[in-house]
This record gives sequence, structure tokens and C-alpha cells, in this order.
Amino acid sequence: MSEARLAESEIAEVVALVEAATAADGVVPLSEHALLRLRGGGHGLTIDAGGIVAYGHLDPAADGESASAELVVHPGHRRRGHGRALLRALRDEAGGPLRVWAHGDLPAAAALAGSEGLRRVRALFQMHRPAAGPLPEPAVAEGVRLRAFVPGQDEEAWLEVNRRAFADHPEQGSWTIEDVRLREGESWFDPAGFFLAERGGRLLGFHWTKIHPDGAGEVYVVGVDPDAQGLGLGRALTLAGLHHLRERGVPRIMLYVDESNVSAVRLYESLGFTRYAVDVMYGTES
Ligand SMILES: CC(C)(COP(=O)(O)OP(=O)(O)OC[C@H]1O[C@@H](n2cnc3c(N)ncnc32)[C@H](O)[C@@H]1OP(=O)(O)O)[C@@H](O)C(=O)NCCC(=O)NCCS
Repeated sequence: MSEARLAESEIAEVVALVEAATAADGVVPLSEHALLRLRGGGHGLTIDAGGIVAYGHLDPAADGESASAELVVHPGHRRRGHGRALLRALRDEAGGPLRVWAHGDLPAAAALAGSEGLRRVRALFQMHRPAAGPLPEPAVAEGVRLRAFVPGQDEEAWLEVNRRAFADHPEQGSWTIEDVRLREGESWFDPAGFFLAERGGRLLGFHWTKIHPDGAGEVYVVGVDPDAQGLGLGRALTLAGLHHLRERGVPRIMLYVDESNVSAVRLYESLGFTRYAVDVMYGTES
């Protein structure tokens, strides 16, 4: 086991390992973030057995977030204890609570995590639908108006509805004005694709869409104030954004949704989205 900055030849070896695992498992074992760090020669844990047979990426604990890791064993070297050894080394290195992301929800990952006493904390679905195909017109409740977000005017009201809508999802619900401003400064930001629903001047819900550099559209965030839930606003706002993305010519539309968010998953399924990928987070502590 070694933990060091990787040499060029080692990076190439790990990239080949990742490709072999992708071919064998049908899913890329590392996130985009971990791959970028790897290609940049970032720190990684490796197991060498006549060549690199396993690789682990670790993000140390920071800003109140526990450490998080991703790991992969070469498909030709599995069931020899490398995964267990690497996971234990990552835990030692983290020195405290550890979250491990497993891409694809594979049985081997579930078995290893379970046998090491990690529990499934959450799962994130990536859902897709083609832009073409049936798409009903949005229907809004009496007195509700849909309009585009106005930068410099709507931030505070939006933050309040976002906070209320995501009270149970702190990662999203705790966004600040700074988080909004950062995104307003991004090249993809387009207020015409950021829909608000209001009644009598009060903001009730929103749908923020995004178009990725590769052309894919995304249902970025949909939120409805708890006081206004049950009026069909989530469906209407989602549809308004989907029509917008289609008019912009995107070939497909994707979104991320927490597995536990049953009502949202059901809504997206009813709008033609299907499960495309799943990432599971295992944790050493609750
Ligand atoms: C998950 C993964 C890292 C396991 O690596 P590995 O080196 O084969 O695992 P180990 O040999 O250390 O196995 C440790 C234990 O995990 C369980 N396990 C591992 N693979 C398994 C499989 N295919 N089926 C059932 N149990 C399995 C067993 O309990 C095993 O102990 P045992 O061999 O004594 O029965 C590997 O399959 C992999 O790289 N998968 C793709 C990436 C991934 O999912 N990473 C997330 C890991 S949480």
C-alpha cells in the first residue's frame, strides 16, 4: 500500500485500471472530480502487486463535512482482499468518519461495505429522458403566474423559498446569496431558463434549468414552498422548464434526485424520465 503523489506512468496505469473496471462493470468507478484529481497527479492510495491492482481517492474532512472516498479494484484482481485492505487504509488515512461513494450500486460494493460495517446513507439517482416525445403543456392553478427570474431583484425571495422547500435537504436548503451570485456569474446561467411561480406577488416555487457545455439540458433545481405544495406547481414548473430546454434544441434532459425523495422520483417518472445511473453513499457513522 502506498500513499503518494503519482508518477506519470502510475497515473497511466490507474487510468487503464479505471477503463478495465468501466468495461467490466458497465459504470465508471470514479466521479468526474476524482478522475480530474487523478489526471492532475493528485494524492491517491494504491496497492501494487506486480502492477497497480487497486486505487483509492480520498477527500479529507473539511468545512464540517466528513472525509469522503472512492475506490476501485482491477477486475482481474478481485476477491483477493485488496478492496477490504484499501477501504481500511482509507479509513485510517481519514482518521475519523468516512463517506464512501460507490457508483452503479453494484452488489460487490454493497457486500464489501456491509462486511466492513458501513451502512447505506443515501443514493442519488441520475434520470434521463430524450427532449423529443410527449410533453404536456404546463397547467397552473387559479391566480398563479409563471415568469422568469430577474437577477438583482429575486435573489432574496428565491433563497427563502429554497430554504423552506429544502428544509430536509440541508445541502440545497442552506444556499446563501453567495451561492446564487456564483452561479449567476457562470457562462451557463440564463435567467430565461429560471422559472418562478408566484401568486399575488408572493413567490411559491421555482424551476432552475441548466444547459451543459456538451449540450445536455438539466432540471437543475425544482422547489415548491411547503404552503403551496399539492397545487400541481411542481409538475407545472417542471414542464415549463422542459419546454424551454426543448426549444433551445437540447437532445436530452437529465437530472439528479435523491432516492429518498419518493414524490419527486414519481413526478419525474410520470414526465418520461427513467433511471440512468445511481450513486450510493456508504458511511462509517450516521
Ligand atoms: C467493490 C470492490 C472494491 C471489491 O474489491 P475486491 O478486492 O474484490 O474485494 P475483497 O476481495 O477485499 O472482498 C472483501 C469482501 O467484500 C465482499 N465481496 C466483494 N466482492 C463481492 C462479490 N462480487 N460478491 C459478493 N461479495 C463480495 C465479500 O464479503 C468479501 O469478503 P470474502 O472474499 O472474504 O467473502 C470491487 O468489486 C470494485 O472495484 N468494484 C467497482 C468499484 C466500486 O464499486 N467501488 C465502491 C466500493 S464501496
